Amino acid sequence: MKKILITRRLLRSCEEKAEKTFKANLNLNDELYSQKKLIELSEGCDGLLSSLTDKLDTETISKLPESIKIISNFAVGFGNIDLEAAKKRDIAVTNTPEVLTDATAEIGVLLILGACRRASEGIASAREGGWKWSADYLIGKQLTGARLGILGMGRIGQKIAKIAKSLGMVIHYHNRSKLSGDKEQGAIYHNNLKDLLSVSDVLSICCPASKETVDMINKDTIEYLPKGAVVTNVARGDIVDDEAMIDALERRKIYAVGLDVYKNEPNLNPGYLKHKSAFILPHLGSATKDTRTAMANLAIDNIDEFFNTGNCKNKVN
Ligand code: DGY
Repeated sequence: MKKILITRRLLRSCEEKAEKTFKANLNLNDELYSQKKLIELSEGCDGLLSSLTDKLDTETISKLPESIKIISNFAVGFGNIDLEAAKKRDIAVTNTPEVLTDATAEIGVLLILGACRRASEGIASAREGGWKWSADYLIGKQLTGARLGILGMGRIGQKIAKIAKSLGMVIHYHNRSKLSGDKEQGAIYHNNLKDLLSVSDVLSICCPASKETVDMINKDTIEYLPKGAVVTNVARGDIVDDEAMIDALERRKIYAVGLDVYKNEPNLNPGYLKHKSAFILPHLGSATKDTRTAMANLAIDNIDEFFNTGNCKNKVN
C-alpha cells in the first residue's frame, strides 16, 4: 500500500476513503504545517495530498524526499505549487477540475450580485437596525442589461456566463482562444484584454493564476474599464494589484468590488476593509458539502490512478 501525507483535514467520509486506499497520514488537528514540517512529515511517503494553503515553492519541492512521486492538489487551482520545480524532480502534480465548477460559479454570481447591489452595506444596516427606507436608499447597479466581461472563459467562466445571461446580462469574454459556438452561447469574444475591459460594466475574473496573469488587473489596465465599473474575482488574488484597485475604489473609478480570493490569504489588504463597497468573502468558492466531497475523492482517485497506471488524466505538469 502506498503511503500518503494528507496535509489538511478532509471531510470525514473522504478521510475514510483515503484510509482504505492508502496508508494515509492524516492531519487530525488541521494544523497549518510550516514548509519545514511538511518536508519532515513527507519522509517515507510516496505522495502528498496538498491543499491551496500549502506553499510548495521551488525550495520546498527541492527538499522533498526522493520517495515523493505525486502531489495531488485538493483544488482546481495550482498556483501554490511550482510546476516546473516538480517536473524537474519528476513529481507529477494533479488538480481537481470540473467537480467544483458549479459551486464556484455560484459564488462568482454571488460576488456580482453582492457588489452591484451593495449587499455589504445592506447587511450592515439591517443588522444595525434603524435604517430608513427612502426612494434613493442604497441604490445599486442593476444587472439586467449590463455588460459582463469574463476574463478567462474556462468551465467556471462559462457557467457564470450562463447564469448571468439568464439574469439579462450581455456577455463578453477574453480567453487565450475563441470558444466554439456551443460553448460561447452568444457571448462576444475579444482577442485582447484592453478590448474586453473597455466594454465591461462588470468584470468577472475567472482565469488561473500564472506568471502571465499576476497583477494583470493593475494601475494601467484598470483605466481601460468604464468609469464606475464593478470588479469581481473568484479565481486567485494574485491576478489583481490590490494597491491599484483600492486606489481606484477611492477615486470612484471603480464603483465596487466583489472578492472571494486575495493575495496572502487570509491576510487581505486592509485597504479593502475601509470600503463599504467591497463585498468580501473568505474563499468560499468550492465550499459546499457535495463539492468538497467530490474534490477530495477526486484528489484521492488521482493518486490511485497515478500509481496504478503511471499517469493521471488530471496531471497538470
Ligand atoms: C480551487 O479549487 O482552486 C478553489 O479556489 C478552491 O475553493
